[in-house]
Amino acid sequence: MLRAAGLAKSYRAPSGGQIQVLHDVDLAVKAGELIVVTGASGSGKSTLLNLLGLLEDADGGELWYGDERVSALGRSAKSQARGRCVGFVFQSFLLVSSLTALENVLLAARYVGRPAAEARRRALALLEQLGVADRRDHYPAQLSGGEQQRVAYCRAVLNDPPLLLADEPTGNLDDANGAVILDGLRRRAGAGAAVVVVSHHPDVVAGGSTVYRLHEGRLEAA
Ligand SMILES: Nc1ncnc2c1ncn2[C@@H]1O[C@H](COP(=O)(O)OP(=O)(O)OP(=O)(O)O)[C@@H](O)[C@H]1O
Ligand SMILES: [Mg+2]
Repeated sequence: MLRAAGLAKSYRAPSGGQIQVLHDVDLAVKAGELIVVTGASGSGKSTLLNLLGLLEDADGGELWYGDERVSALGRSAKSQARGRCVGFVFQSFLLVSSLTALENVLLAARYVGRPAAEARRRALALLEQLGVADRRDHYPAQLSGGEQQRVAYCRAVLNDPPLLLADEPTGNLDDANGAVILDGLRRRAGAGAAVVVVSHHPDVVAGGSTVYRLHEGRLEAA
């Protein structure tokens, strides 16, 4: 489902010069696989997910979603491919502050033109499953960190995306809620999604089909 070859990314440091974050990353994730990426803070895990999810452009290398070489697409075709194929759970949640929890989840439906009533039913079922249905009319500022994380997860999976990217999705959660999200990620993979999770949580790592470590800009077997 997902294939990356030779991905490279550097950033301009505020003090001048370049920070080479990723050197030469190769990764293949089949439908049904759950890949876990670990690595030290600052090793480039979030950067890698951003590249895989077409949120940022790589400096070099290529990226395929299935047969489509998405790295070669123009900006608007890339955002269409992202809307169609990718569910993203951000490390910092990125909920829209002016929208309620339910409205944030429903944002995902916009990109796929799903009937509104059906999307709403599914959104409410997900919020229920994650134990935040009673917070659906709260704005992000009125939610705890863990509640925001669970809402962000619901938004990411609303459309059953074939590619699911999750950045420390259990980072703010107690064991019980973390287990619900981990179980959800596993089920997505079981249903045929390609799942890439950045996590250090032992249970997530144990549940991975393959575990990699990002080190010095490259993915190594962990
Ligand atoms: N926009 C940017 N401009 C300059 N440097 C950046 C930018 N984004 C990230 N970096 C740098 O790139 C490196 C990798 O960042 P990244 O967020 O990918 O790390 P990470 O592995 O996700 O870390 P953490 O575990 O702390 O979340 C860091 O050293 C960071 O300072
Ligand atoms: Mg990160």
